[in-house]
Amino acid sequence: MGKLKVGMVGTGGIFQYAHLPAYEKHPEIEIAAVCDTQEERAKALAERLGLERYYTDYRTMLAEEELDLINICTPNAFHAEIAIAALQAGKHVFCEKPDAMNPSEVRSMSEATKVADKTLMVMRNNRFRSSSSFLKSYIEQGLLGEIYTGRCGWVRSRGIPGKGGWFTTKALSGGGPLIDLGVHFIDLAVWLMGNPQPVSVVGATYRKFAETDMADSAHSGFGDAQANGVFDVEDLATGFIRFDNGASLQIEFSWASNIEEEHHFVELRGTRAGASLKNHQLKLISEFDGVLLDSVPRLPKDQGGHTENINHFIDVVQGRKQPIFTPDQGVDMIDIISAIYKSAETGVEVRLKP
Ligand SMILES: NC(=O)c1ccc[n+]([C@@H]2O[C@H](COP(=O)([O-])OP(=O)(O)OC[C@H]3O[C@@H](n4cnc5c(N)ncnc54)[C@H](O)[C@@H]3O)[C@@H](O)[C@H]2O)c1
Repeated sequence: MGKLKVGMVGTGGIFQYAHLPAYEKHPEIEIAAVCDTQEERAKALAERLGLERYYTDYRTMLAEEELDLINICTPNAFHAEIAIAALQAGKHVFCEKPDAMNPSEVRSMSEATKVADKTLMVMRNNRFRSSSSFLKSYIEQGLLGEIYTGRCGWVRSRGIPGKGGWFTTKALSGGGPLIDLGVHFIDLAVWLMGNPQPVSVVGATYRKFAETDMADSAHSGFGDAQANGVFDVEDLATGFIRFDNGASLQIEFSWASNIEEEHHFVELRGTRAGASLKNHQLKLISEFDGVLLDSVPRLPKDQGGHTENINHFIDVVQGRKQPIFTPDQGVDMIDIISAIYKSAETGVEVRLKP
């Protein structure tokens, strides 16, 4: 069987860091076309890969190249548009997070996937971390008991990505740390909790650090910063989500805040045991014979889960595996995020399901 031909749309930070190495080393993949609206970027990559042509418009690429897969690493505002066009052209799609900017876009993506009968997978790299996979199987064996509540977040002291550029421009990003970081850890928490359906949320958002130029996080290097650019998104979001099974989740995401040090976490409270993932270090907490035990499993080191997620996508396309991510889960995720923004704006609880 021939190799799967992939077309790359968006070749900036995360593409160079995580996608390119994953696809380049996959034995069943041929990187057949590249597209970036920054011509120099597309040209340099095409030269590096030995491709004769490069594109600055994904529509031309879809029309002119024979491709099996499209990989999307553009700013958030273009995810839905490009994914839908690619699905309609009969391609399988792998897209960076967040799935889309709003509930209507994410539903259109999900619908286009069904109509095209192709695979749409959105990056959920944290599910593929060794600590996450281990905890998932631990939970599936009933060892946490009933998971009734949890907390998750990613909080930074000074870690605004691409300040003034697309990350901090609502029309291009859909929002600040809630949509940027929330997708990572709300997803991880909800997936570990067994994908309960969200029924209501409350939230609050703040923008207090639009003037700071300090940076103490490697993640502030993402995106192209722009002096005197736009900053019309939040820099901190907090909220509370209720699910149909009675469980709940507290959340907090910040790009900048006066805290001790940057960290991310998912903490789950079960009736048999609790689990804490802090910066992906797993600790299990349970009671035995009147004593509380902290267990720290020795897990293999991982590199971030991006390669594993892309390999999983290729396994699904090749019919070897069932997807661990479905577009419906993406709809739930974007519904949660959009409802938290709405609650923050209106000051009241937002119900997602009757
Ligand atoms: N999963 C992760 O760990 C992770 C980490 C960082 C970013 N991301 C996501 O990846 C996406 C890209 O982020 P980034 O940090 O690489 O940003 P970036 O700004 O570094 O790169 C984006 C690239 O897309 C190009 N582009 C813009 N509009 C385009 C269009 N319409 N068609 C083709 N190319 C276009 C830009 O020229 C740029 O080269 C975002 O959605 C972001 O949320 C995910």
